[in-house]
Amino acid sequence: MRIGKHEVVYPLIQGGMAVRVSGARLAGNVARCGGIGVIATAGIALNSPLFKGDNYFSAEPQALKEELAKAYAIAPDGVIGTNCMVAVTDYAELVKASCEGGAKLIISGAGLPLNLPALTADWPDVALVPIVSSIKAAELIARKWHKAYDRMPDAVVVEDPDTAGGHLGEKMENIGTGQYDQYATVRGVKAYFRDNWNLDIPIIAAGGIWDRDDLRHALEQGADGVQMGTRFVCTEECDADDAFKQAYLNCKKEDIGLIMSPAGLPGRALTANVDKIRERDLEMTPTCPTGCLRKCAYKSDGERFCIVHALDRAQRGDTETGLVFCGSNAWKATRIEKVADIFEELFHDEDSLSVSR
Ligand SMILES: Cc1cc2nc3c(=O)[nH]c(=O)nc-3n(C[C@H](O)[C@H](O)[C@H](O)COP(=O)(O)O)c2cc1C
Repeated sequence: MRIGKHEVVYPLIQGGMAVRVSGARLAGNVARCGGIGVIATAGIALNSPLFKGDNYFSAEPQALKEELAKAYAIAPDGVIGTNCMVAVTDYAELVKASCEGGAKLIISGAGLPLNLPALTADWPDVALVPIVSSIKAAELIARKWHKAYDRMPDAVVVEDPDTAGGHLGEKMENIGTGQYDQYATVRGVKAYFRDNWNLDIPIIAAGGIWDRDDLRHALEQGADGVQMGTRFVCTEECDADDAFKQAYLNCKKEDIGLIMSPAGLPGRALTANVDKIRERDLEMTPTCPTGCLRKCAYKSDGERFCIVHALDRAQRGDTETGLVFCGSNAWKATRIEKVADIFEELFHDEDSLSVSR
């Protein structure tokens, strides 16, 4: 698969997972195996020695660059990118730090990345990959990028709100109704770029892809590649604490649900402990500690919980009062595996996966 100037052996992106679930170790190992490894940038500084408690915004870009360097130490020739969420306050700084740190692509969602080409103008080789959940969102981005920057996306990730983990690009009431058609959206976005812009860019399906059958299905249904998050959590190389992985191993289907994030978006997570998350935040940080999100109900009205700290606690192993984001397939995890084993399972005898278009 080729995205912009960057080519990988396998059509697989490991989805960015904040806070520090996909750091250098996971991203580096995915890249070493021939996929695209992605470091999640949101809250990257919280667990870094650079963060002294009151310097969140200056520590973040520096911590990100260090993380990128660590990932490249694992996979010097690999394709490593970052995931930058539009909703965070320091979006522009994290995008720039990604470029300066050598990210080969930037994958950007949780809002429409309308000004991403402006932020990366000095780094034309960095591939730009928006995340959308509708054809309309892809159209808006393409029209704005063309008009304002004479630029087009190098690929698009189409994320299925019915299955993906983390923040979701759909209204709570529309999720799980059976109305969303993931592969109709993938094909629609593909056709939009082909018919309107004469562009054949990779369209990547994200959400609910777990095994080789899912991968084959995605390719047969018109995706050029897949983005997988949840499957990579229960790996030795995943950057989260063992307790986070254990929460996946212990969970059942019915433990996975939707929460309303203070960012104003629904999110998929393990939901049993949501009250404890808020209690802990009120003890630790009764008012917003960092201002990490541009719009946040905890920051403005003290509602819900502090998402960056809730995710950070879970990543460090406090799954009692932390927020464990996961996709709808987390209950399928039964063991801790190696990243290389996942690649072997997905891509052995690769020719038999190829589909004719
Ligand atoms: C723990 C966790 C954290 C996530 N954090 C982010 C994030 O920071 N930014 C983002 O764009 N997507 C995030 N996601 C979504 C993943 O990158 C991925 O697209 C999605 O989970 C794909 O579905 P799957 O988990 O069923 O494979 C997260 C997912 C999980 C499970």
